[in-house]
Amino acid sequence: MSQMIKTSLTVNGKRQTVTAQPDTPLLWVLREDLKLTGTKFGCGAGQCGACMVHVDGKSVFSCLLPVSQMGGRSITTIATNCRRRGSPNRCRNAATANPGRSCARPIC
Ligand code: FES
Repeated sequence: MSQMIKTSLTVNGKRQTVTAQPDTPLLWVLREDLKLTGTKFGCGAGQCGACMVHVDGKSVFSCLLPVSQMGGRSITTIATNCRRRGSPNRCRNAATANPGRSCARPIC
């Protein structure tokens, strides 16, 4: 078992410090530590896109990124994208209406 590390990152514009094992996927830090459950677990293998976030403006699969690589990075989740567009329900409805484009789980 590896040691826990502290990592500082910016999530949806807010500075956060989390403590986790270095190989913990960013996805679980977002969901479990920061309670940002809009980012979903699907395949865990970089195949489905349910865990997609933006890191420094680039789309990445958060299930594949260890938190140890996130120090000082800026992360944007789907929750912020939905709020910017005006309605979390609008994003949720889009995911439900287009199951072929995602895993069809509610995304917000
Ligand atoms: S959970 Fe499917 S790509 Fe990350």
